[in-house]
Amino acid sequence: MKAKTIFVCNECGYESAKWMGKCPACNSWNTFVEEKISNKVENGKKERKIQEPPKPLNSYVGQDAKRITTGYAELDRVLGGGLVKGSLVLVGGEPGIGKSTLILQICDKIQGDGKVLYVSGEESAEQIKLRADRLNIKNDDILFLGETDIDIIDENIEELNPKLVIIDSMQTMYSEEISSAPGSVSQVREITARIMKICKSKKITTIIIGHVTKDGNIAGPRVLEHMVDTVLYIEGERYFSYRMVRGVKNRFGSTNEVGMFEMQENGMVEITNPSSILISEREDNPSGSVVVATIEGTRPLLVELQALVSQSIFGFPRRTANGIDYNRLTLLMAVMEKKAGLMLGNQDVYLNVVGGLKLNEPALDLGIILATASSFKNISIPKGVVVLGEVGLTGEVRTINMIEKRLKEAERLGFKKCIIPENNKKLLKESYKLDIIGVKNINEAMKAIELR
Ligand code: TYD
Ligand code: MG
Repeated sequence: MKAKTIFVCNECGYESAKWMGKCPACNSWNTFVEEKISNKVENGKKERKIQEPPKPLNSYVGQDAKRITTGYAELDRVLGGGLVKGSLVLVGGEPGIGKSTLILQICDKIQGDGKVLYVSGEESAEQIKLRADRLNIKNDDILFLGETDIDIIDENIEELNPKLVIIDSMQTMYSEEISSAPGSVSQVREITARIMKICKSKKITTIIIGHVTKDGNIAGPRVLEHMVDTVLYIEGERYFSYRMVRGVKNRFGSTNEVGMFEMQENGMVEITNPSSILISEREDNPSGSVVVATIEGTRPLLVELQALVSQSIFGFPRRTANGIDYNRLTLLMAVMEKKAGLMLGNQDVYLNVVGGLKLNEPALDLGIILATASSFKNISIPKGVVVLGEVGLTGEVRTINMIEKRLKEAERLGFKKCIIPENNKKLLKESYKLDIIGVKNINEAMKAIELR
């Protein structure tokens, strides 16, 4: 009989009977791979286990989510107060972003009795030891297992009963029961299911590391998101040292929290006051620079935006956006042309977020516009100014959320003046030590800082 196959999207796990160029579920291109349908349950026969009958939910004693601190306050916050005992956490990120480093640091710092089992299919014991030396980790409780066969890993977990298991990475592990290659969608799902089964039954906390790659043959962490309790992504630019740990799913806490770290010579170091770092400290005040207040999770963050506008040499002007959406930049430039009469058609425009952060929030629109206008006119925006506001297609400045938090942060860091949407200003309840200027449209905003 011919083996049945299906096509699976490596990005999101969408299944289809035929190959497709573009995934209808997640819109990625060229992510479909052919996989054999696993035929584990042959002839439809299945062993029946004797199960306990259903019991009233109220008769169970809730565990009350016992949490173990990771030793890093920044990480505990993202997790909602620490690792929940017996939970399954997926940590995703691009290769080289610092997943293995951060996790090894957690292995060292984590509280509680018992051993930590670090299973690696990527690196040898010597390599991990080198990293541990670099991080100055000398911990007898960390045990290393260089293995990729899930059956052997299973046995070891069973025998050791550790307090924490690390699987580095999900794409290198395999189960013999599945015929497709390690890293395929069905393999990563199978090994996650296996690990989940043993760790849930023995209440062992587990962290699975998954690479985010554009390699067409490897399944990404997204295909596991529905199976695990918590999903964290480590983000950052490879050539910048800042790293954000972002919670995108959390069965035991709020999502969208962000922890800030910096990758230093001796590992990842927490950043407890990120705003002060993301604003370049300097004496002069060049044109094209503006400070905005963004919200990461529930935390306000002051960030500097820099724009450079210069006459295009070639007929076709260049636009580059680093850290913000390119389409948003071009849209805002069109608004500037039409509503403020700034002729950018023959200008190259470069926009950059200082520190390599990626920001995706409409509240930064006005900042982007003022930075661009400032560089175009070569007039500096005065120091001590923070700019906030979403900009609509008619040039109107629209209300944004969490204004009070952003203003508080600006005040805390010693800023003097804030340009905010008029409608937000009307609704302010508290008073601030800031000079708050409400604006209705981009022309008013430009006037407020003398760009007009
Ligand atoms: P790593 O944790 O191996 O990344 P991942 O597991 O996500 O693939 O981190 C790799 C990078 O981090 C590597 O380029 C070296 C750098 N690094 C430091 O800068 N400082 C350190 O203390 C360590 C251990 C690594
Ligand atoms: Mg690694």
